[in-house]
Amino acid sequence: MRIKDVEFAGAVAKPGGPVPGELPEVAFSGRSNVGKSSLINRLLGRTRTPIARVSQTPGKTQEINFYRVRTALESGREAAFFLVDLPGYGYAKVPLVVRGAWRPLIESYLGGSEQLRGIVQLIDARHDPTNDDLRMIEYLAETGHPTVIVLTKMDKLKPSERKARVARTSELLGVDSDQVIPFSSKTGEGREVLLESLEALLEEETR
Ligand code: GTP
Ligand code: MG
Repeated sequence: MRIKDVEFAGAVAKPGGPVPGELPEVAFSGRSNVGKSSLINRLLGRTRTPIARVSQTPGKTQEINFYRVRTALESGREAAFFLVDLPGYGYAKVPLVVRGAWRPLIESYLGGSEQLRGIVQLIDARHDPTNDDLRMIEYLAETGHPTVIVLTKMDKLKPSERKARVARTSELLGVDSDQVIPFSSKTGEGREVLLESLEALLEEETR
């Protein structure tokens, strides 16, 4: 699939708040600082004029942001979807009250959305999944939404470490290594593969 254009469509700041329209949704999840905003900008071809803010203060975004994305599918058909940017979790310096507000917001969205077709779960390639990551993945499995795993910041690994990191993460998460997409926002590695996965998630509903 090819990205045609993208625009910010709105945010949900309170549990149960209305989503900005009726389009299929794919949500992006990950702990704070995992590289989610960078990945979204790279994926959408917005590295020069970023649409998702790469923040200096991790964990600051406590809203669910929606981007309307128009695409051309492999078939040539056009399709639009919402790319949904979930707030990052697990940042220790975020005040407790803010951290406490995160759960109802995310759970209300993930549990309630009728248009959600799947989740892209990001994990930092350099480290084993954190307890928060494991909790999130367990929760996602409970919701039953199809989930794609992406390893971020692959460019920070030595070439000799790559295979082992992918294998170990897959093992810890209990998924096949070919279900894990290595990605780098710096080099663009993994962009095409991830776009294909998104298309597959979005196409599933039309069948
Ligand atoms: P919050 O929104 O603050 O929770 O973080 P985030 O998950 O959106 O991460 P963000 O994209 O803001 O990136 C965090 C830091 O990691 C920034 O300094 C980025 O430049 C860096 N970074 C993100 N992705 C990559 C990558 O693929 N490679 C390298 N080398 N650095 C990256
Ligand atoms: Mg961010």
